[in-house]
Amino acid sequence: MKKLAVILFCLPAMVFAAGGNNEHVVSAPINLKDRVSLQNGAKLFVNYCMGCHSAKYLRYERMADDLGIPHDLVMEKLNFTSERIGDTMTNSMDPKVAEQWFGAAPPDLTLTARLRTPDWLYSYLVSFYPDDTRPYGYNNKVFPLVGMPHVMAGLEQELGEEKFKSEMADLTNFLTYASEPIKLERERLGVYVLIFLFILFWPAYFLKREYWKDVH
Ligand code: HEC
Repeated sequence: MKKLAVILFCLPAMVFAAGGNNEHVVSAPINLKDRVSLQNGAKLFVNYCMGCHSAKYLRYERMADDLGIPHDLVMEKLNFTSERIGDTMTNSMDPKVAEQWFGAAPPDLTLTARLRTPDWLYSYLVSFYPDDTRPYGYNNKVFPLVGMPHVMAGLEQELGEEKFKSEMADLTNFLTYASEPIKLERERLGVYVLIFLFILFWPAYFLKREYWKDVH
């Protein structure tokens, strides 16, 4: 039992340890309320990542509604993997083949922002650097010896560092949203609940006064 407690206690540290180098993790400039950023992130994700990675716990329809993108636009510009808006965001990458190509299968990214933290994710995306000793010519400061090729190398060159970083922030923003789509809704509901409790307080308060009047 004691052993189990120790393991559970150390678990968060162990997860981080698996992530490799933490000294390069910087704070991710993201804002879940920024719809333009989220929409841009979704565009980047389907164009640059979904060839290898899925987001299988998220449906195109849910994304469309949460991000305010019309369904027909999603089908035309963002859904390259299925016929229906209600489908989950999967791809046809065979994990076995991928493992042969990259040394590791590309994991599903729906929950990565929660598993790794948005900061880690953002730092990872902006930390690829040229390294001739790696099979695809790039290494990563946050995830040393990563199997993933630097698929945004062209984009990084074309945009320059600052603009590239802001694009990666949008992508991180989107993946953070994907890891917990209900978050925005929950915060909105929370405000209503607080307002409701505030209103309820007054009748409850006066009722209490009325009841206790005779006792005191
Ligand atoms: C050509 C295929 C390919 C593409 C395209 C690709 N990745 Fe990857 N990615 C991989 C592979 C393979 C791994 C596993 C690397 C390893 O474990 O060494 C990986 C790992 C990752 C990880 C680490 C996950 C973890 O928790 O270990 C993240 C995050 C990630 N990719 C994000 C992205 C994003 C965002 C994009 C789009 C910009 C993208 N990838 C595009 C192949 C790809």
